[in-house]
Amino acid sequence: MSIKLSPLEATQLKALEQLTHQLSPEQALWLSGYFQGLNHSPGIKSEEYVSSKTASDTQRTRLTILYGTHTGHSESIAKKLHEKAVANNIDSTITAMDEYNVRNLKDEKNLLVVVSTHGEGEPPLMAEDFHQFVTGKRAPKLKQLNYSVLALGDKSYKYFCKTGLDIDHALSSAGATPITPAVTCDVDYQSNAAQWIEKVIEVLSKQNLQTHVTENSEVTTDGQAIEYSPANPFRAKVLDKVRITGRESDKEVYHLEISLENSGMVYEPGDALGIIAQNPEKLVKEILSTLGHSASETVDTHAGKTTLEEALKHHYEVTILTRDILKNMPQKQAAKSLKPF
Ligand SMILES: Cc1cc2nc3c(=O)[nH]c(=O)nc-3n(C[C@H](O)[C@H](O)[C@H](O)COP(=O)(O)O)c2cc1C
Repeated sequence: MSIKLSPLEATQLKALEQLTHQLSPEQALWLSGYFQGLNHSPGIKSEEYVSSKTASDTQRTRLTILYGTHTGHSESIAKKLHEKAVANNIDSTITAMDEYNVRNLKDEKNLLVVVSTHGEGEPPLMAEDFHQFVTGKRAPKLKQLNYSVLALGDKSYKYFCKTGLDIDHALSSAGATPITPAVTCDVDYQSNAAQWIEKVIEVLSKQNLQTHVTENSEVTTDGQAIEYSPANPFRAKVLDKVRITGRESDKEVYHLEISLENSGMVYEPGDALGIIAQNPEKLVKEILSTLGHSASETVDTHAGKTTLEEALKHHYEVTILTRDILKNMPQKQAAKSLKPF
């Protein structure tokens, strides 16, 4: 009996092997980031993505369009809106609500929602999770967000356009700023929808002209843009860490989610992440005082001459107690027994 470990067909695996065995480590790293990005860029296919990016992307207004539909009306309106946005040089992404990662809401700048109501004032199935998240207790503050809602419904129902109005109220309560007030549509939705599209595109196009924020930068309160680079890395917050290898596995592989909030950076397929590890300052100080060494002592390390404090902070594993450290402890030589990173 054979166990299939990969979801790929034999021919696909062969083609992949042929491609990957020629790759340099740098190219392989780039590709892994590329595939990761394709998975996590909601609602965009790679061709769409490439074709909608231009050299002036960093100057363009970013827009996310979400739709929640049951019979297709909201989706077709959202698609028209997306086409119009792209035609107006807005960096627009369109996504079905059930394919959208609600954690991204905190990073959105402009959000347009087109959603209908079904049942007795219920969201369409595909909008249930989004609706529950934004109207629920775990909803984040969204002060950075500009938004508008187009709510589809039918006046013959008791709860007219309730889902769209709930979402509008929830986003407003979270501190988001309306681009235009929510618009409700009865069964003959075309005219209201067209007017709403006109209005939101007009406002966003104006914003397009005023956007100064450049890529990889953040604007400080005094208006100065901070440029992040390998020499001035952005200190990102880890939102989630989940071990994805089984308990019996001796490999430890983790799924990490890292927030780019307030960095001015936008994740794109192909981007790679560098993690610059540093031992906790408090632990380093404790080691120095316990061993009776001075922080400014100069030491030779595998990375060159530096102070003992810098060496312990950046170049050695100091969280594992090894036999060598214990053996050297009485001679106060323990620092020399630390393993390099
Ligand atoms: C079974 C059913 C239940 C509905 N319930 C409501 C409702 O409670 N409130 C409302 O305003 N509209 C209600 N509607 C009307 C729809 O929201 C409306 O037809 C809308 O245009 C559908 O948009 P969609 O194709 O994007 O789902 C209901 C429609 C159906 C078929």
